[in-house]
Amino acid sequence: MSRIRLLPETVASQVAAGEVVERPASVVKELVENSLDAGARKIDVLIRRGGISFMRVIDDGCGMDRDDALLSLERHATSKIRSVADLEAVETLGFRGEALPSIASVSRFRLTTREPDAVAGTEMVVNGGKIDIVRDGGEAPGTQVEVRSLFYNVPARRKFLRAENTESRNIEHQLHLQAIGHAQVAFTFARDDRMVFQLPTTTTLADRIRDLYGKELLDQLLPMNRSDSSAIRISGRIGRAGLSRQTRSQQLVFVNGRAIESPLLTAAIREGYHTALMKGQYPVTFLFLEIDPGAVDVNVHPAKREVRFRDPNSVREAIVRVIQETLAGGRADWQEKFRAPADAMPSQAVANLTLRPQVSAPEESHRELPMAGGGGSPNRHQAIEVNRPYQESKPRSQQQFQIIGILNKLYVLMENADGLVLVDQHAAHERILFEELRRRMEEQGVPSQKLLITQTFELAPRDADWVEQNIAVLQKMGIGIDSFGPNTFKIDSLPGFLNVTDGAQFMRKVIDDLKSASDRSSPLRLGEEMIAKTVCRHAVKANDPLRYLEVEKLIQDLLDCDLPYCCPHGRPTMIQISNAELERKFGRKV
Ligand SMILES: Nc1ncnc2c1ncn2[C@@H]1O[C@H](COP(=O)(O)OP(=O)(O)OP(=O)(O)O)[C@@H](O)[C@H]1O
Ligand SMILES: [Mg+2]
Repeated sequence: MSRIRLLPETVASQVAAGEVVERPASVVKELVENSLDAGARKIDVLIRRGGISFMRVIDDGCGMDRDDALLSLERHATSKIRSVADLEAVETLGFRGEALPSIASVSRFRLTTREPDAVAGTEMVVNGGKIDIVRDGGEAPGTQVEVRSLFYNVPARRKFLRAENTESRNIEHQLHLQAIGHAQVAFTFARDDRMVFQLPTTTTLADRIRDLYGKELLDQLLPMNRSDSSAIRISGRIGRAGLSRQTRSQQLVFVNGRAIESPLLTAAIREGYHTALMKGQYPVTFLFLEIDPGAVDVNVHPAKREVRFRDPNSVREAIVRVIQETLAGGRADWQEKFRAPADAMPSQAVANLTLRPQVSAPEESHRELPMAGGGGSPNRHQAIEVNRPYQESKPRSQQQFQIIGILNKLYVLMENADGLVLVDQHAAHERILFEELRRRMEEQGVPSQKLLITQTFELAPRDADWVEQNIAVLQKMGIGIDSFGPNTFKIDSLPGFLNVTDGAQFMRKVIDDLKSASDRSSPLRLGEEMIAKTVCRHAVKANDPLRYLEVEKLIQDLLDCDLPYCCPHGRPTMIQISNAELERKFGRKV
């Protein structure tokens, strides 16, 4: 008895739909992509009850004539490619001819469409894949697709749907992707008859970001632009160092206009941020990668969410580089912002602190900064001598920043043109030390200090392997470590800035800390990681009282850093509270 049967077309579509249509958001994705491929200038999306009961996408694109409309519901019917070779240069979002038949096979589906010059349009009603009605329709030019009762005929799928709210949020995220990817197209999104957003046509990504997420986010983004000889062009905007999110929802990446998820690109972005990102946090990116379509395979994922690069390494390197450069470039902006307002009137307290070349009053430089928030008078004898002569300090007019005082013995309060700046002196010191040590490590190696007694210790074979492979880097970091028999090492010196005596114990900890981090990292990265993990112990403690000159130097040194706005663990070093915010809080402006 023969056991193999050909599946009826509708069943085959339903099976295929399992891959293409996972949830309401996938329907919206496919429909909006079709509208974009049809050259729409405006796309209106409406959903009800998480899209499960109703979704509608209306576009003003090229529409279809009757024959094409009928064909569009056939599987493997597409106007977008003709041969496999076309896939190499596909410029449309769709190419498989799967989406419409898949959606129509698992819902109550209605499509109306009309070409701009046609007298009449076409209306089609399909239920569970079966065409029930085809007739003339009189809608506006363009295409309108309505999808009701998703998965009504596939209960197994229905069970996997989440709460309506979750499905709505997924749809909204999907629309964010499309809207950011296509700033020149107007979008509206209504949920349960309430308008969620209305985005006008714009010409720039920046405008679209502002319309969708607000000016405050836009102000924290750095523009990115790079095209190099390797035929990879990267543009868009990324969050400046210190800006991060708890989820990946604002980490948007587009490859040739297609929103994609890619572990490779995610890792590259993370590496580019490196110390500019807190552990467990995600950067904000609107990153657009343009690459020769032949160098990327878009046909590797049923929902077209992933791509495969022919040369993943060059893509990775390009991204790491452009992110590093962009973040470092953002520094100039910060320094500019830090400038004290031209008309800054020094307060009485600050005026007292102004550094004048008064030889007769040498203790002037030792004077305490005014302490906001109290905390008692710090011990004068702890004052660290500042050996910089008065003459060196810049005249007030050229000074970039205006220090007001210190809060809680920790936060330096400063005034700039935008309002109030708070600097975490501990985080700031960490950043300064980190960059200083990294520079030394790159240039001549970190100076090390001999241990009183040479220690030998044994490691598990895998750890021993790891040390063997990284021994040169470890030495450059000031760790005097050498092989001493199988799986055994001897250690006779440690970096001078460290405060440890038990070298073996320290090494075990370093290995634990760094092994995971080093999987994909370069040796230099490893050094950075180690510095970031150890400088903390050395940085100014939160409650160390600092003298004016020290604070001034701290801020100056911070501004000279490559990435001044966050500590090596990605925590912010400074926070801006704008004048507008202050005015709002004091009820001066509503
Ligand atoms: N909104 C629309 N406006 C104009 N034509 C459309 C629209 N939606 C679909 N079509 C036409 O119907 C065809 C089939 O659409 P469908 O989404 O099923 O496949 P596709 O877009 O070609 O490929 P994919 O399955 O990868 O999305 C398209 O190739 C296109 O010609
Ligand atoms: Mg399509």
